[in-house]
Parts: sequence; C-alpha cells; structure tokens
Amino acid sequence: MPSQKPSYVLVTGATGFIGAHVVDNLLARGFSVRGSTRSKQKGDQMKAARPQYASKLDFVVVEDFTQIGVFDSVMDGIDAVIHVASPFFYDTTNNEQELILPAINGVRSILSASAKSGSKVQRLVMTSSFASVVSPSSTPAPEFTYTAANWNPLTYEEAIDPKSDSVTAYRGSKKFAELAAWEFVKEEKTKFDLVTLCPPMVFGPVVHPVPTVQQLNESNMMLWGVAAGVDPLPVTRVPGWIDARDLAEVHVQALLTPEAGGKRFVAASPEPFSYEYAADIIRDEFDWAKETVTTNYKMSEKPSASYGIDGETVARELGVKYRPFKETVIDLVRQIRGLTI
Ligand SMILES: NC(=O)c1ccc[n+]([C@@H]2O[C@H](COP(=O)([O-])OP(=O)(O)OC[C@H]3O[C@@H](n4cnc5c(N)ncnc54)[C@H](OP(=O)(O)O)[C@@H]3O)[C@@H](O)[C@H]2O)c1
Repeated sequence: MPSQKPSYVLVTGATGFIGAHVVDNLLARGFSVRGSTRSKQKGDQMKAARPQYASKLDFVVVEDFTQIGVFDSVMDGIDAVIHVASPFFYDTTNNEQELILPAINGVRSILSASAKSGSKVQRLVMTSSFASVVSPSSTPAPEFTYTAANWNPLTYEEAIDPKSDSVTAYRGSKKFAELAAWEFVKEEKTKFDLVTLCPPMVFGPVVHPVPTVQQLNESNMMLWGVAAGVDPLPVTRVPGWIDARDLAEVHVQALLTPEAGGKRFVAASPEPFSYEYAADIIRDEFDWAKETVTTNYKMSEKPSASYGIDGETVARELGVKYRPFKETVIDLVRQIRGLTI
C-alpha cells in the first residue's frame, strides 16, 4: 500500500497505443514520467511532441525487456511503475517465442527490478486483459456477467500448441503473464503492491508515433478497417470495449487509490459494441465513408451483448466515467482519415 503519492512513474510500453495515453494522463496531473521503449526514435518523437513537459518526461531504451536485470539501471528515483508493454499482434510464426514467453518474462523482469533492494517502488499497476478473464470456448447465459473473479481456463499446453491460433496464444500470453505477476508478489513478499487491469478491446485516437496507417496498433486497425471498407466486417469476438483515454484514467486512478492495492479489475464500458454498430456510426457520420464502408451486413440500432462484463466496479471504486462508443469511433476515424489524405 503506497504510504505517499508517487512522484516519478516508470511507464513501460510508453511509445505504444495505450502506454502513450497513460503517459499523457500522468503528465497532465503533474507527475514526472520515465517511459521505456525499444525505439529511441519513437521516444524522441514523443518528447518532441510534448515540449511543455520537457523537464517532466524522459525515455529509456530497453531493447529486450525479457532479460532479468535490464530494468535495474533505469529505476533511479522511480517510486511507481505502470507496466503496459507486452506483445500484441496476431501475425506470428511462433506463438510461444513471439507472444507467450516475452509477455511472461517481461513481467518477471520489471517486477524483479521493482523488488530490488533500494527500490522505492510502492505500487505496480499492470495492463493485463479481458483475454485472461473470458472463457472463449463456453457460451454463458445472457444474464451471466464476467467479473475480475473469473479466469480464462486455457492451459499453458493449449496456449503453446502449434495447432492453436495466434488469438488463443495471445489470450494465453496475457493469462500466464498476469499469473506470473501475482505469483511473484506473493512468493517474494514484495514491499510494493500490485493492481492488474483487464480491459477488453481498446479503441480511440492515437497519441503515440504512428508513421503510417499500416503501423496502427492491432485493435484500432480492426476498427479503422471498418471505415476503410473491409468486407466481411470483423467478427466481434468479445462484445466489450473501452476508450484508451478512459483506460489511461483507470491506470492512473489504480495507481493513486490506496484501496486498489492487491486487486484485479475489469475495465470495460457498460455499453456493448459490435463492428456492425461501428459501421453504422461511421456511415452516418462521414460522407466519404458511404463509399467505403461495406453494406454487406445487417444494420443494427445498438448491439445487445451476449453476456455482461462488469465495468461498474472500476467506475465505482476508481471513480472513472466511460465515454460513449460513438465518440470513440468518430474521434479515431476522423484522426486516421486525416493521416490517409
Ligand atoms: N489494444 C487492446 O485492445 C488491448 C486490450 C487489452 C489489453 N491490451 C494490452 O495493453 C497493452 C498495450 O497494448 P496496445 O494496444 O497499446 O498495443 P501496442 O501499441 O502494440 O503496444 C504494445 C507495447 O508493448 C511494447 N512491447 C511489445 N513487445 C515488446 C517486447 N518484446 N519487448 C519490449 N516491449 C514490447 C511495445 O513497445 P514499442 O513501443 O517499443 O514497440 C509497445 O509499446 C498490452 O499489454 C496489451 O496486451 C490491449
């Protein structure tokens, strides 16, 4: 439990989609931030885009975050950590090597640096995922609501099975990385406490360097694909979502709320989404999209969720409000359209 408010926060994955929003939320609240990245160029670009925070923001390059010890030398003065970095892509050739082991070893590496003697870290907030909560192969009753008490039943063997697809492997990477974190704090009796956050799909405008549309992060690429005209529309695997700006707020509130220590939270808007609903919004809002968005789908007023996802606990305990899906879609599509013309 943090005894006092942190002042200097290390954010891993700071040059990624969600990490950059977390950096901005912390800076706006007056914290000093150290971002870790694999790319000096992206770190330099993020800093250059925030001249007003020149004295509050620095970046360290950690090329391979899976090696124990790589974070040890960047912990000077750091009194809190938000661990966002983890591989999130589906275009893999070896699921265990590219997704699962890096996710788990990255967690062990940042936790071990935070636990080193002399460390001032009081709390570590970790971005896990609803992928570590949901049981994808079962069909729950419509009245069933997933909460932070649920765990994906996927086994390690299933996750690394070469016959498993990369979506299954990604789900395993998040589950086993999160379990590794909980196990670490328990076994090592760390002085810092842990909070894990389990968001479903995360969408929203980007504030990290995205040189070309092809380099958009995985989740936004799915949504942008609807605007760009993919046909058929993507399958809505999980009906839950959250705006990246709201999720950044959840991360920072999780860091600052004393009672959050030792807890796991599902962070999800209560409003269900589907790619069909996104297509409706985009066609309604943007004239140019009437030419691009496929009509090869059934229009829907608003999607109804096949099961519930408890985002209320986060709203109540961490004091976070969720944006409407429509706003998120419009903000993202307007921004990315601007990159393409
Ligand atoms: N987007 C979603 O829908 C969603 C939903 C639930 C949970 N999450 C979780 O949110 C976190 C951030 O994802 P995102 O959506 O922001 O995707 P992203 O833009 O691809 O960000 C991933 C971040 O992780 C870092 N990273 C990936 N592999 C790494 C490795 N091997 N070594 C060091 N750093 C590595 C990347 O570093 P560089 O910047 O240096 O490339 C990047 O900053 C991940 O933990 C992801 O599992 C995302």
